[in-house]
Amino acid sequence: MSEAKRQAALKAIEYVESDSIIGVGTGSTVAYFIEALGDMRERIRGAVSSSEQSTERLRAVGIEVFDLNSTGTLSLYVDGADECDPHKRLIKGGGAALTREKIIAEASTRFVCIVDPSKQVDVLGRFPLPVEVIPMARSLVAREILAMTRAQPVWRQDAAGRGIVTDNGNAILDIHGLAITDPVALEQAINQIPGVVSVGLFARRPADVVIVGGETPQVL
Ligand code: 5RP
Repeated sequence: MSEAKRQAALKAIEYVESDSIIGVGTGSTVAYFIEALGDMRERIRGAVSSSEQSTERLRAVGIEVFDLNSTGTLSLYVDGADECDPHKRLIKGGGAALTREKIIAEASTRFVCIVDPSKQVDVLGRFPLPVEVIPMARSLVAREILAMTRAQPVWRQDAAGRGIVTDNGNAILDIHGLAITDPVALEQAINQIPGVVSVGLFARRPADVVIVGGETPQVL
């Protein structure tokens, strides 16, 4: 699948406008995009990054990283996804960067999502849905999600059993066993629970363009 990811990322370069600041997501597909962006760094002003990991990658290829507060609206945001449905609604957050990703998607006029074919689904939810939560609210939010959905929230931990900590200092719950028939309603409902920072459903603000990598990338 890594060749498909690379092909999707290369196709996304066609959306980059000269002299612009690009919103950049997080993950292995985006890593290919950053590599390609590095080759044309003289033609762009820089990037706004969605994670410490991407910031490091961007700086390593010589791209200046800007604070979103200083850039205003961005013309383009490029990011991967864990799942994508036929309406370009997404599950994101497998890399725990969902909150900053959501902020940059909201701040961007065009969101180009780059995926390999394994990410395409008819109904979202096979991939456990990530929710970033304030640490003290972890159990409360888990109980409320269980009562609301009957699906199982699981605290994301590393191999040593330590709770993973997001770039914002928070915890992640992954909701297993969902079949999301109304993604906009579920996104709104989870957002209402006190202690939720953000949910990895990108339905209210879906992608504008989805590029599915392959020998001939498909643009949806
Ligand atoms: C990170 C994300 C990523 O976009 C998502 O996990 C896809 O990652 P990859 O490109 O490595 O398959 O949402 O929070």
